[in-house]
Amino acid sequence: MRIAVFAGDGIGPEVTEQAVRVLEKLGLPGLELVEGDVGGMAYRKHGHPLPQATLDIARGADAILFGAVGDFSCDNLERHLRPEQAILGLRKELGLFANLRPARVFPGLEHLTTLRREVAETIDLLIVRELNGDVYFGEKGIRTLPDGRRQGWDMMSYAEDEVRRIARAGFDAAMTRGRRLCSVDKANVLETSQLWRDVVIEVSAEYPEVELSHMYVDNAAMQLVKNPGQFDVIVTGNLFGDILSDQASMCVGSIGLLASASLAEGSFGLYEPIHGSAPDIAGKGLANPMATILSAAMLLRHSLGMEAEAARIEAAVARALADGINGGDLGGSAGTREIGDAVVERL
Ligand code: NAI
Ligand code: MG
Repeated sequence: MRIAVFAGDGIGPEVTEQAVRVLEKLGLPGLELVEGDVGGMAYRKHGHPLPQATLDIARGADAILFGAVGDFSCDNLERHLRPEQAILGLRKELGLFANLRPARVFPGLEHLTTLRREVAETIDLLIVRELNGDVYFGEKGIRTLPDGRRQGWDMMSYAEDEVRRIARAGFDAAMTRGRRLCSVDKANVLETSQLWRDVVIEVSAEYPEVELSHMYVDNAAMQLVKNPGQFDVIVTGNLFGDILSDQASMCVGSIGLLASASLAEGSFGLYEPIHGSAPDIAGKGLANPMATILSAAMLLRHSLGMEAEAARIEAAVARALADGINGGDLGGSAGTREIGDAVVERL
C-alpha cells in the first residue's frame, strides 16, 4: 500500500503532517508514504507546479493525500505555472472524475451551523460531483458580434459515457450508505440535462436496491436548506455540483472540518481538505488539521478498502470534538499540533 503525500503550500504541510501522524498511529503493516512536491513550493524548487517526478509518484501510488496549493508570491506567473495548476493537472492526468463531499454535523457542533439546529441535525448526505466535463471544459470564448456587441460563451455538454460513470459512482456510494440517490439536473430547460436524466435512469437498472429520484437544481438548492435530511446521496454535474457542494458543506459548520475525495475509475483517488492554503494563518500553527485527517480516513475507505480503520479515525475526531478540542475556526484555542495530539491519543 503506497500513499503519495503532496503537502503543498501555506497550511498544507502543517495539516498534512498531522494526518500522516494519524495514519502512522494506526500501524498499518505494509503502508508506505512517498512525498512529492506540488504547487508554489514545487515551482520554486523545480520551475513547475506539477513536476514530472511528482506525477510519477502519483502514478506509482494507490492513492494521494493532498494538502493545499496556493501561493500569492506566484500571482504574477503565467496561468500554466500557477500553483492551482497542480490540482487541476492531477485531476486531468489521473482521470479523477468523481468528487465526493460528505456533509454531516458533528455532535456538539450544532451551534456552528447557519441553519436552525433542529434542521442541521438531520443532515447526513454525500454529494457526488462530476469533475472532468460540463461547461467548464466545453468550447468557450469572448467574441464580437457583427453589430459590435461582445458576447461570452461556454458550451455545456456531456457524452453518455461521462454520465454513465459518474452515475455509477453515485449508485455505488448509495449502496454503501442509505441506498437513496437523488440525481440533480435542469432537465426542464437543458438538453444536456435531458440526456443526463435518461442515462441515469438506464444505469439505475443495474442497482435495483437503490431508490432513485430526480430534482431540478434550483429546487435542490432550496431543499438543501429547507429539508436537507431528505437527502442521502446526490449525484450531479460539474457546475451544479460546484455550487451545491459548497452550499451543503457550509450548512454543517467549519471549513477546517470538511474533507473530500476525487476518484478515478477503480479504487485510485486523491483526498484533500476542501480548504485552500490559508496564507493568513500559514506557519503559525493555527490551522485545524481535522479536514485533512478526515480526508485520510476517506482515503483508507475508498482506495484501500479499510472501512474499520477509516471509522476509527472518524470516531477519534468526533470524540476530540465532543471533548471540546476546537481549533480557531471553531472559536476554540487548540493549535494544529494539539489537535493532532488529541486525535492520536483518542485513536
Ligand atoms: P482558504 O480556504 O485557504 O481560506 C479561507 C479562510 O478560511 C481563511 O480565513 C483561512 O484562514 C480559513 N481556513 C482555511 N482552512 C482552515 C483551517 N484548516 N483551519 C482554520 N482556518 C482555516 O481560501 P482562500 O483564502 O480563498 O484561498 C487561499 C489560497 O488557497 C488561494 O491561493 C487559493 O487559490 C487556494 N485554494 C486552494 C485549494 C486547493 O488546494 N484545493 C482550494 C481552495 C483555495
Ligand atoms: Mg468550489
